[in-house]
Amino acid sequence: MTILPITLYGDEILEKKTKQITKVDDKIIRLVKDMIDTMHNANGMGLAANQVGSNKALFVTDLGGVKGYEDESPRVFLNPKIVEQSEETSVIEEGCLSIPSLRGEVERPKGIKLIYQDLELKEHELYDEDLLARVIQHEYDHLNGKYFVERIEKDEFKKLKKSLKKIQDRKMDVDYPVTQKPK
Ligand code: NI
Repeated sequence: MTILPITLYGDEILEKKTKQITKVDDKIIRLVKDMIDTMHNANGMGLAANQVGSNKALFVTDLGGVKGYEDESPRVFLNPKIVEQSEETSVIEEGCLSIPSLRGEVERPKGIKLIYQDLELKEHELYDEDLLARVIQHEYDHLNGKYFVERIEKDEFKKLKKSLKKIQDRKMDVDYPVTQKPK
């Protein structure tokens, strides 16, 4: 079991679009395993590859720790693409392992249709309009270099600026390994 350090708000790789995966080699398999371990260790519901320093278009989810979702197990999404979004939206409070202890309400489409590939690069289609849809949209944003705080209301965002600076300066408490402050 390998726990990788999680990148934090302001780390360059979190602000860059990730790259498509064209071949699944041992490195990718290893990365996925380590990402699942890292997500579980931090009690996260999802983790994107650039949150552990990789530029690959891939994220993992596991809602199994959430009440009412005990049947869920880890899911792996390679090269995901949201191809449909419902008109109906919902407002839900989100958090992020790369933005420790900070939360904010985010409005997003309630339902999504996602095309993605598994570890054999076989294509799948998924429709969800519940918690999984929310987690997928959050992780999908990561793969496009976007933080959830960029989607909260401007006035609310302003209130978070001090806390975000603290995170960048590593002046916050966190109970899982994170990256060092970039030079
Ligand atoms: Ni996140």
